[in-house]
Amino acid sequence: MKTHFLASLLLLAGLSLPLRAQHYVPTEENLKSRQEFRDARFGIFLHWGLYAMLATGEWTMTNNNLNYKEYAKLAGGFYPSRFNAAEWVAAIKASGAKYICFTSRHHEGFSMFHTQYSDYNVVDATPFKRDILKELADECHKQGIRLHLYYSHLDWYREDYPWGRTGRGTGRPDAKGNWPTYYQFMNNQLTELLTNYGPIGAIWFDGWWDQDQNPDFDWQLPGQYELIHKLQPACLVGNNHHQVPFEGEDIQIFERDLPGENKAGLSGQDVSSLPLETCETMNGMWGYKITDQNYKSVKTLIHYLVKAAGKDANLLMNIGPQPDGCLPEVAVQRLKEVGEWMQTYGETIYGTRGGCIAPHDWGVTTQKGNRLFVHILNLPDKALFLPLEGKQVKQALDFVTRQSLKFKRVEGGITLLFDEVPTETDKVVELLLG
Ligand code: GLC
Repeated sequence: MKTHFLASLLLLAGLSLPLRAQHYVPTEENLKSRQEFRDARFGIFLHWGLYAMLATGEWTMTNNNLNYKEYAKLAGGFYPSRFNAAEWVAAIKASGAKYICFTSRHHEGFSMFHTQYSDYNVVDATPFKRDILKELADECHKQGIRLHLYYSHLDWYREDYPWGRTGRGTGRPDAKGNWPTYYQFMNNQLTELLTNYGPIGAIWFDGWWDQDQNPDFDWQLPGQYELIHKLQPACLVGNNHHQVPFEGEDIQIFERDLPGENKAGLSGQDVSSLPLETCETMNGMWGYKITDQNYKSVKTLIHYLVKAAGKDANLLMNIGPQPDGCLPEVAVQRLKEVGEWMQTYGETIYGTRGGCIAPHDWGVTTQKGNRLFVHILNLPDKALFLPLEGKQVKQALDFVTRQSLKFKRVEGGITLLFDEVPTETDKVVELLLG
């Protein structure tokens, strides 16, 4: 009620002051969906498109200056004979992930769904003729896992997309493009995506940065965000622009770094109060790359997930499916192993928030009410000081065995005392706070 009243007031203010940008007020459905997103903590990213066939990652078109008309011929040979949405979803669910983010259209410009606004799509341009997104969406809904959609703002194929700083060597004739038709095209496709595939948990934009050398470029995001929220109020809007969130966005995204960190060079932005998500690759590439077998160990993946949770962020872990339609075997194995760990430790991850002790070299904390989960990832010692100034610790338990652990009260907190140096992937101590 209250929000509606506020919204109407804002609407009135907006009507009488047409020049002032309207303030975005998320609906109740949207706020609920943000909470559910936060509680989920773990998702799987899938980068799949024609680029899988060239097996050199999703940037191959621009990196190798492939002509857009030649590149498009790949579609005529796209026939992922072993694609089986039910198997994908089951393998992903086994990892404990609560949502899947799928590339509906990446920078190459090919639509992995049946769109009426371009023939360059998986049904009309390939011998496969199946709407991959539809099969995936139906299966997600059937198996009870949320579906998010990646959508590229930039396009290396379309002639009407104005040239940005990438994709300049793909042979599109006109640098200026035709922004109004391109913008309309995107909004038409977003309308299809949010109308024909059931509830969509989030639209995950990428590519805004392509125009960062054209300061006057206007992406007209407010109108696009409004369209999304109008079509599906619970659908979250996120944008991988590597900036602090813009008006109208519901989540903050980080690429290859935990919030606040900047090792990969794309992050370090201020951390907002919106739900947070960081994405990372399982090997070194987003799209399938045949030479990259450098998969992170299950321990590294678990540590990344735990560290994200300790920073109050979700982890979106990527897999690049093969051209034959299968998920790489190693990736499936990793999903299984992470899932086994989640079966035991999921309670210390799902539905938690970053804990009251900030991340340290030894690990992080997550929290649910008065239960504080201390995740010890790397402790070369038998004692661990925890800064819990002013907090009462009633009990310390080994999370797995439920046995009481020794600790002593010291100035500024407590010190946990172990018989042995912890060697588990993640030694979790549960503290009951008073
Ligand atoms: C980058 C890349 C893109 C990838 C994305 C995932 O922005 O351009 O290929 O999809 O990161 O985070």
